[in-house]
Amino acid sequence: MAFSSIIIAVLLLCLLASGSIGPQADCDVYAATGSNFTVRLQHVLKDSDSLRWFQDENQIFYRRSKQVIRGKNYDVDSTGSLKLTQLTKDKSGRYTPQVHRADGTSAGDLPSVRLCVLDPVQKPKVTVTCDKTKVTFTCDAGQDEKIEWFMDGETVAEKEKTLTRPAEDVLNARFSCNVSNPVSSEISQPVQQDCIKPSDHSGIWIAVGICICLVVILVIICCVQSRWKK
Ligand SMILES: *[C@@H]1O[C@H](CO)[C@@H](O)[C@H](O)[C@H]1NC(C)=O
Ligand SMILES: *[C@@H]1O[C@H](CO)[C@@H](O)[C@H](O)[C@H]1NC(C)=O
Repeated sequence: MAFSSIIIAVLLLCLLASGSIGPQADCDVYAATGSNFTVRLQHVLKDSDSLRWFQDENQIFYRRSKQVIRGKNYDVDSTGSLKLTQLTKDKSGRYTPQVHRADGTSAGDLPSVRLCVLDPVQKPKVTVTCDKTKVTFTCDAGQDEKIEWFMDGETVAEKEKTLTRPAEDVLNARFSCNVSNPVSSEISQPVQQDCIKPSDHSGIWIAVGICICLVVILVIICCVQSRWKK
């Protein structure tokens, strides 16, 4: 018995977890904070009809015989559609209309809309960290935001917050990230790695040059010595 209730508990937890992966997974419409959105009434309204709008379980608007009984803050247009302005996150929810005819009968189930209000994304920044020969680029995107990386303007396969490459491969490459959510997207300034200075290679070439010079001098000395011996 205890075992089966554990299984049930685990199953319930899984269900809850899968629901919480995308809290916005069950939205019909997304809108940005501060924007306006109109929930359409999909019913031709008569003057004698009474109209109610609900946000989830709360009645936010009620008009009967052209008299508004509830909902000064909510504006309803001439077609009965609900005009939501200056959206804030607490305006997220399911909006359902209800229409009753003059004789009190219902006009039936009318379509509802699940609205999710989200903040637009912030412009991201890319930071660079070095680890011996590897360079890691980090995009400071927020939670639940989609990431896309560009290397010299071309998209790369990685979609995570960090991107790691051998420094040698990306000496002069410019990396930027595009952060988006359902209501907006922003792209960062491009950055370059600073782990290996491309000018560091001049040291190698100077060393190579010195070696060649030494070899040449040695060869000359050898030649001169063998001449003297003759
Ligand atoms: C939203 O609606 C208000 C009132 O109707 C209006 O003043 C404002 O300009 C609208 N804002 C946007 C972003 O359309
Ligand atoms: C950034 O990503 C969003 C969402 O995928 C997309 O709509 C937008 O066009 C992208 N911006 C650029 C510059 O690629």
